[in-house]
Amino acid sequence: MPRIAYVNGRYLRHAEAAVHVEDRGYQFADGVYEVCEVARGYIIDMPRHLDRLARSLKELSIGWPVHRNVLELILREVVRRNRVTDGLVYVQVTRGVASRDFTFPEGVRPALVVTARKVPAGSQAKRAETGIKVVTTPDNRWDRVDIKTVGLLPNVLAKQKAKEAGAQEAWFVDGDGMVTEGGSSNAWIVTRDGVLVTRPAEHGILRGVTRTTLLDVVAKLGLKFEERRFTVEEAKSAREAFISSATTIVMPVIAIDGQPIANGHPGSVALSLRRAFFDVAEKTKAC
Ligand code: PDD
Repeated sequence: MPRIAYVNGRYLRHAEAAVHVEDRGYQFADGVYEVCEVARGYIIDMPRHLDRLARSLKELSIGWPVHRNVLELILREVVRRNRVTDGLVYVQVTRGVASRDFTFPEGVRPALVVTARKVPAGSQAKRAETGIKVVTTPDNRWDRVDIKTVGLLPNVLAKQKAKEAGAQEAWFVDGDGMVTEGGSSNAWIVTRDGVLVTRPAEHGILRGVTRTTLLDVVAKLGLKFEERRFTVEEAKSAREAFISSATTIVMPVIAIDGQPIANGHPGSVALSLRRAFFDVAEKTKAC
């Protein structure tokens, strides 16, 4: 069965799906995106992802390519046509196609692409049993990382650096020595006193949808929690560390810059948050 992508109103075979050479996403990274997890045939937290997409579009004065309700239908249809029961659905909106000029073109329709792909069921859960390693790297991104734009070159370079060091994620560190977030995830620690800590989302990070849902989980489980910045040193001496994202949900971190976290094994808080996540997250049936 061929993979199918949605491109500007049409469902096309993946191999033939293409955007125009003067799409502004391609030329200027003038676009935004979302990634939602699909688990057991349900799209996870779709309303929160579409709320954040709405915010990203508004911040950049890009219009909706289609009505939000229609976009929901397209997401579900792409998941259905690709028979994805476990995997990811990706949506990208760019300012549109226009001859190359830095300022906003007039009368141009935003361009919409939606793709979906399968991820073997349980592969992330398996990975969580061993955990991942992270390396730290200076945060050299622009000031508006709260907008989920497709301008991800610093993230690409940071994650490549991690890969070359035998790690699976990079943690960005700001000028004050504070961890901001991962290359494609939010960063968390559990202090020696058992307090969960993650950086406030007001500045320096993307407000992760998984992060937001995890805060609901934290409240439900009655865990001790502080929203504050933390240093690399504090993370290295923490009881636990982990990342959150739509692609990993909760993934224990077992080493930072080659230094094991606690006993070098996934922590129990991270694993219990992971288990509780799906009970709390909102699930939308794909078809
Ligand atoms: N990235 N921070 C950054 C920089 C991210 O790119 C992401 C997600 C997150 C977590 O957000 P959420 O919980 O909504 O997935 C935080 C996606 C998964 C990606 O680019 O593939």
